[in-house]
Amino acid sequence: MRNYLSISDIDSLPDWVAAARDLKKNPRKFDSLGKGKTIGLLFFNNSLRTRLSTQKAAMNLGMEVMVMNFGSEGWALEYGDGTIMDQGTSEHIKEAAQVVSQYCDIIAIRAFAGLKDRKIDEAEQVLNGFKQYASVPIVNMESSVGHPLQALADAITLAEQNAKKRPKVVLSWAPHPKALPHAVANSFIEMMQLQEADFVITHPEGYELNPEITKSVRIEHDQKKALENADFVYVKNWCSYSHYGKILGQETDWMMTNEKLGHAKFMHCLPVRRNVVVEDAVLDSERSLVIEQANNRTYAAQVVLKKLLEN
Ligand code: CP
Repeated sequence: MRNYLSISDIDSLPDWVAAARDLKKNPRKFDSLGKGKTIGLLFFNNSLRTRLSTQKAAMNLGMEVMVMNFGSEGWALEYGDGTIMDQGTSEHIKEAAQVVSQYCDIIAIRAFAGLKDRKIDEAEQVLNGFKQYASVPIVNMESSVGHPLQALADAITLAEQNAKKRPKVVLSWAPHPKALPHAVANSFIEMMQLQEADFVITHPEGYELNPEITKSVRIEHDQKKALENADFVYVKNWCSYSHYGKILGQETDWMMTNEKLGHAKFMHCLPVRRNVVVEDAVLDSERSLVIEQANNRTYAAQVVLKKLLEN
């Protein structure tokens, strides 16, 4: 594996989950693997879990860590070829990626979708720009269209919590006052397509995700019907894909409640808006897995970094 950019970079999900669970039992077991190596974490957007868990994972492997809030502290980057840079951008991705490669052995990047232009977002210009011009491996810490570190952590959590051969897992859309990207839902769907499960997506009409990602996964617009006999319910908001970046309606009755959840376990990537996305009673119950999902972010990142270091 040269880079970790999407779920498709995982060659065997069961093997990666098993490796992560082993690391969780003894996180410092390979603490000399990264000795003398440096990871650079470049953030174009805010973060709590990704920033700290990736840093923790790197430290567990003995790496040095440099963190930069590139979006607010770096020069505005230019991505276009042949651009006359007499406007807002100060530095070209060609130089920036090569320069950072001299300081770091691995570069991890967070750069969200702008949600204004689908074509620009799907081009993944930050991630792909670094991939093109950097000379070291690149890790996706959430890009325009994917959050594969989160989805790998979710696979670890499912494996730890699941007692069935074929559990029913529901991805349910939830209301949110802001337009949010599709990245978490996309990677969760791609990860679930590698699992033995009865997997259903439920959302109001108009919130269909990219059909190239959902493929043949069952989509049910009746949330109640979708949630019947669910073992795990993963809740996430996303904005419209067809009316790109738009919120079509508040749909507050899609908020997850204890009553709707039934006997299922609750999952969410965090951060979550209480009593908008999900009611307090769910988050404060023993059926909520959100804290363990966040814990597993460390071991998801650690298995990725370990594989890159071993390469
Ligand atoms: N789930 C997640 O990626 O959290 P942060 O945005 O806080 O990193």
